[in-house]
Amino acid sequence: MAGLDAFKENQEVKEIDLSKKVKVGIIGTGWIADSHIAGYKNMPDVEIVALADIVPGKALKFAEKHGLDVDKIHFYNSDRELIDAEKDIDGVSICTYNCQHAAPAIYALEHGVNVMLEKPFTVTLDEAVEVMKAEKKSGKILTIGFQPRMSENMKMIKKIVDSGELGQVYYLQAGGGRRTGIPTPFGTTFIEKETGGIGAVGDIGSYSLDMLLKAVGYPKPLTVTGYMSNFFGTDPNYSDYVNKNHPEYAEKFGVDDFAAAFVRLEGGIILDFRISWAMHMDTCGDALILGTKGGLRIPSTECWNGEFNKPLTVYKNVAGKNIQYEVPLIPTKTSLFSQKLRAFVDAIKEGGSATVPSSEIIYNQAIIDGIVKSNQLGKEIEIEIPEI
Ligand SMILES: NC(=O)c1ccc[n+]([C@@H]2O[C@H](COP(=O)([O-])OP(=O)(O)OC[C@H]3O[C@@H](n4cnc5c(N)ncnc54)[C@H](O)[C@@H]3O)[C@@H](O)[C@H]2O)c1
Repeated sequence: MAGLDAFKENQEVKEIDLSKKVKVGIIGTGWIADSHIAGYKNMPDVEIVALADIVPGKALKFAEKHGLDVDKIHFYNSDRELIDAEKDIDGVSICTYNCQHAAPAIYALEHGVNVMLEKPFTVTLDEAVEVMKAEKKSGKILTIGFQPRMSENMKMIKKIVDSGELGQVYYLQAGGGRRTGIPTPFGTTFIEKETGGIGAVGDIGSYSLDMLLKAVGYPKPLTVTGYMSNFFGTDPNYSDYVNKNHPEYAEKFGVDDFAAAFVRLEGGIILDFRISWAMHMDTCGDALILGTKGGLRIPSTECWNGEFNKPLTVYKNVAGKNIQYEVPLIPTKTSLFSQKLRAFVDAIKEGGSATVPSSEIIYNQAIIDGIVKSNQLGKEIEIEIPEI
């Protein structure tokens, strides 16, 4: 079993230095902020000092719901108020809807605050570029909230590619996608143009892109032919709306519920992408990586959860015979979400760098932006990323 031991990963828990406490705040106290607060609350070296939400009273209710000592927390009605007042805060989690990612991130960075920004990076490429300019000027940490990055199984994909087992990679196929699953957990911020900005392509497409692009070293995207549709989201008879008794969501729906694209990447790699919040199909398929010496199948139906439900499979030709073998799944010991927050806090304490850096995710965003623009124009477009 020596060969298989190579796939065992070191998931040791680091000892926490309690001599320095990190002061954090959360901007946007909606759905995903629940996971951020749960993570920070469990860290003995983190002090939650401030919460902000533009909905009056929401941040206070959020604190009460999570059993925080409200007398020790400062509450604000916007990201700006929080950043202006909290002069010695170390970092913020930005948990606002997509259209409010760029402005709060820029404001925090400009004021010397480290940022954990929820995914997707932004809505447009231009916004992402502006955030990166602020990041560069500030010298602070900006990390994007892709928790699947913390998964040892996700890391294994890159290790397999880097090992040379697949030879030269020339084709990537994104898989996954939901049959039914337009996200309306507590309202419509994901599906309205003014708040979500982009739909499935940004919400879960960004995860799918990150998984494959990270594995092959995040090559620069060159051209995109993109397609987006919204047949289900705009239909008041869509089964999920009817089941939830919210046919009016159809009128509010202003984003995509399906997207597909053909993307040329630097290094001669082709990316065949598809993602869905709603479709008459169980899945868009597994994700595939094809190389000159081997292929990899990634059962990524739910890649946004950060884990697979089945092992990876490597396909090879050995001595003229087609063979395949499975890469055993590595059990996850700690929640990926907690790990992503821990990595952010450690980076602040130790003067480290972002776990999920903007220098990579800018290419993820460029593809999403390219899909939107190509869909609008109805033709292939060249991707141009401004100087940062
Ligand atoms: N990493 C993950 O697993 C994961 C899961 C779900 C959502 N997300 C991401 O998290 C983000 C938020 O999603 P959500 O479901 O929590 O949305 P939500 O609408 O439930 O919460 C967003 C909150 O931000 C507040 N807000 C907006 N602008 C603000 C501002 N300038 N200052 C202060 N508060 C502001 C809103 O009032 C709202 O309460 C989205 O970008 C989404 O893609 C990530």
